[in-house]
Amino acid sequence: MPQILDGIRVRDAILSELKPRVDALAARGRGPGLAVVLAGNNPASEIYVRNKIKACQGLGIYSETLTPPDSVTTEEVLDSVARLNARADIDGILVQLPLPKQVDSKRVLMAIAPEKDADGIHPCNVGKLVAALPGPRACTPAGILELLKRYGIAIAGRRAVVVGRSDIVGKPMALLLLHEHATVTICHSKTPDLPAVCREADILVAAMGRAAMVTGDYIKPGATVIDVGMNRLDSRDEVVRIFRDSPEKLAAFDRKGSLLVGDVHPLDVAEKAGAYTPVPGGVGPLTIAMLMANTVALAERLAGIC
Ligand code: GUN
Repeated sequence: MPQILDGIRVRDAILSELKPRVDALAARGRGPGLAVVLAGNNPASEIYVRNKIKACQGLGIYSETLTPPDSVTTEEVLDSVARLNARADIDGILVQLPLPKQVDSKRVLMAIAPEKDADGIHPCNVGKLVAALPGPRACTPAGILELLKRYGIAIAGRRAVVVGRSDIVGKPMALLLLHEHATVTICHSKTPDLPAVCREADILVAAMGRAAMVTGDYIKPGATVIDVGMNRLDSRDEVVRIFRDSPEKLAAFDRKGSLLVGDVHPLDVAEKAGAYTPVPGGVGPLTIAMLMANTVALAERLAGIC
């Protein structure tokens, strides 16, 4: 039986370790503050942000959400970010992606003060990551690294394959694994014979946003498989195809009208992997825990504690 890597358990451990640090900051006069910019009405983003705010409330972190409309301009978002940069009560800023299509995301992300960059996405902080210098790291890859370490999964000397090359997950994930002395390959849509490359992985990270694409033929027996995907299935046929007529899954789909599935095939991974993250309950909760960790660390820096 493979080991299930429980993101909820690790999230709870991370949050309980952060609590005394939040309390210590509050005791000095002001707890940490996080501002989230949520532009437009992307339903998935709305759920993610709601969960982030809930986590802030649970820890005693002040939070504030700006919700400009879908028609917001680049200049208006830049103006909001500039005002948040100047606020003494805000330690961390997160601009939820994707932004509405008319907004220049790169300009917006570059405008966040690097010392308030809760997502570790500003080029200054990406540079620190490349150089292995301290700084905020992108939350999802940082959470995955934390999970691997807390479960005692060896990284040094092992083959890691990251599928997906996004700025927020694939690229930083590859660098974090490299700094832990893995031999790292980054794959993407143009990689020839993707299953063969993935089968070389002792640690396989799937982050390409394609429902259940990583099937058994991508997985080396006994590998650790990390599933970053969060895909909503709206079609019953898709549920039948992926879950192979599983009566529980079909009943769940009929009840809710949709079903979540990762980028990894949920039945194949349970058969072939040595350890894997479930969807839901794997990587998702860790992203939020690391956002809290980044916010606390930024607040400590701004307070001159470390
Ligand atoms: N959208 C999906 N994941 C993320 C994330 O980690 N950070 C931001 N800013 N937007 C996202």
